[in-house]
Amino acid sequence: MLAFIAKSMAKPVRLVKPVSSVKLPGRYLTHQEGLPHLPVPPLQQTLERYMLALKPLVSQEEWNHTKQLVEDFRESGVGERLQKGLERRGKKMENWLSDWWLQTAYLEYRLPVVVHSSPGVVLPKQDFADRQGQLRFAAKLIEGVLDFKTMIDNEALPVEYLGGKPLCMNQYYQILSSCRVPGAKRDSVVNYSQVKKPPTHITVVHNFQFFELDVYNSDGTPLTVDQIFTQLEKIWGTSLQTNKEPIGILTSNHRNSWAKAYNNLIKDKTNKESVRTIQKSIFTVCLDAPMPRVSDELYKSRVAAQMLHGAGSRWNSGNRWFDKTLQFIVAEDGSCGLVYEHAPSEGPPIVALLDHIVEYTKKPELIRSPMTLLPMPKKLRFNITPEIKNDIEKAKQNLNIMVHDLDIKVFVFDGFGKDFPKKEQLSPDAFIQVALQLAYYRMYGQACATYESASLRMFRLGRTDTIRSTSVDSLHFVQSMDDPGKQNQEKIDLFRKAVYAHRLYTDMAISGKAIDRHLLGMKLLAIEDLVSMPEIFMDTSYAVAMHFNLSTSQVPAKTDCVMCFGPVVPDGYGVCYNPMESHINFSVSAFNSCAETNAARLAHYLERALCDVQQLIQHSPKSKL
Ligand code: COA
Repeated sequence: MLAFIAKSMAKPVRLVKPVSSVKLPGRYLTHQEGLPHLPVPPLQQTLERYMLALKPLVSQEEWNHTKQLVEDFRESGVGERLQKGLERRGKKMENWLSDWWLQTAYLEYRLPVVVHSSPGVVLPKQDFADRQGQLRFAAKLIEGVLDFKTMIDNEALPVEYLGGKPLCMNQYYQILSSCRVPGAKRDSVVNYSQVKKPPTHITVVHNFQFFELDVYNSDGTPLTVDQIFTQLEKIWGTSLQTNKEPIGILTSNHRNSWAKAYNNLIKDKTNKESVRTIQKSIFTVCLDAPMPRVSDELYKSRVAAQMLHGAGSRWNSGNRWFDKTLQFIVAEDGSCGLVYEHAPSEGPPIVALLDHIVEYTKKPELIRSPMTLLPMPKKLRFNITPEIKNDIEKAKQNLNIMVHDLDIKVFVFDGFGKDFPKKEQLSPDAFIQVALQLAYYRMYGQACATYESASLRMFRLGRTDTIRSTSVDSLHFVQSMDDPGKQNQEKIDLFRKAVYAHRLYTDMAISGKAIDRHLLGMKLLAIEDLVSMPEIFMDTSYAVAMHFNLSTSQVPAKTDCVMCFGPVVPDGYGVCYNPMESHINFSVSAFNSCAETNAARLAHYLERALCDVQQLIQHSPKSKL
């Protein structure tokens, strides 16, 4: 299906910036072209909403100061000029935001992708505890991904909907056969899915050793599970030694250091070929070494850490190529999941792929394959010079510091799931977000800037905007909850009001009317066009509003899993959740180096907040709101 555009493209599509450069023909294109362009919200509306968003976050004095700056911004004509510039950009481009977002949020971001950018997913523990089981499951998983790939290639993926509106499906075309590549100032993403001869191999890593595994027969049919299993056994058998240099650990470093090391690494022809093979591969499968056993209570948090960073240079961190868009991780003890490089896609398409794979792995295997002799998977060789060895050592040290610094707690809240809020005619997502506000307020006695991802996929090439969960209404509620002077009915009314306000902001955000990306757009345009930066972007209030102590996201899945990611500020939390019908899977992360934060503590407060709100609602007559 993709072949005809591919003919003119011998090279991979390199996304130094636009996601839009990967163009696809056919039904997909017709669907995409039917999607609206992302609008530029009216200037006055964003400025008013910005002032409102600041209310619960800054003092009255700071607020008054910012109000003056905002008025100057509008009256001086600077705001209008930037607005016009954005509108022109909106007319010229498929999406005025997505290239900027890809660059500023990902490709120009210099912190390691590990913990700071790449999310992990913890899948349910599988029912095996030995090598046979591990390889069998990995083989099925590989076949499941290939089955999904066929749907992508045939444009057979059902279009997704949010709030009754069809969504942009572009991200599905970015996640296979792609890889991030480090650059001195800015990284890029290469995508090999539409080249003349698209890759037919995956990468398998075991004991820090990389292998190229061809997963298609010469007639284009995928290998069967039995065949893949046999190939994985061969890989396992030839990578028993554990004394290999963990070359993949280089990808965990600060992007500037990695870019330098990368140039040095690929000077050698063999190394360059091996790196290209990894980059081109459809995806990576990491066969992890067993990890130390922990109690059932700690198990999921331990697996989350394994997914996010591999647990350190002694364990599985060298068993990764963190630049690879998709890395599925299967360990001998039945733990499994994935880590993905965030630049090409948001969480929901990744999780939709996982849902498909998990269902696929449950299917009985019907076809017994003819056991034709397949060639030995090719081992990818690396020549390690003293300089490369030195780079690996430095990367190991930095990684181990990150590993020790990540504080992660994964837990299941089993008091209720989406069912209870729905029964109360409340949005489950807004319910959880307001409860999180309560948890934070109880811990710190104040509100903080809170980020929740909102999908912009109703628009062509849409990525995300920010739902600002901290509102005047959420603050009123959290202040009232433990106030003995307040009646329960008043608390409930304030809670419902806060939930409605959150849902209203959500609707605004998903329809392209939130404030964050609009402000970012004006700021970036000012950098490109103006002599000096407008004062509203240099203001303390702006810094406070952008310092997201709570960075959160709902990533819903059919599978009983949870996504996890690190905090975005040194003194913050990363909170991700998957609300199931009658329970909610949560992951909470923080940094150990910050004395004020503690993931388990926030998790505890969050559980309490959810229970307290439920009790409050259950023990009072229905409100009129
Ligand atoms: N009464 C009864 N039911 C309600 C309700 C109400 N007042 N409000 C919502 N519901 C129902 C919905 O119909 C939905 O039902 P379903 O389970 O049958 O689908 C369910 O409750 C969930 O709705 P809600 O909790 O409001 O969330 P949502 O599905 O609208 O999602 C966001 C909200 C913000 C998560 C979503 O809009 C979004 O943007 N998702 C993408 C986020 C993203 O990209 N994250 C990844 C970043 S890496």
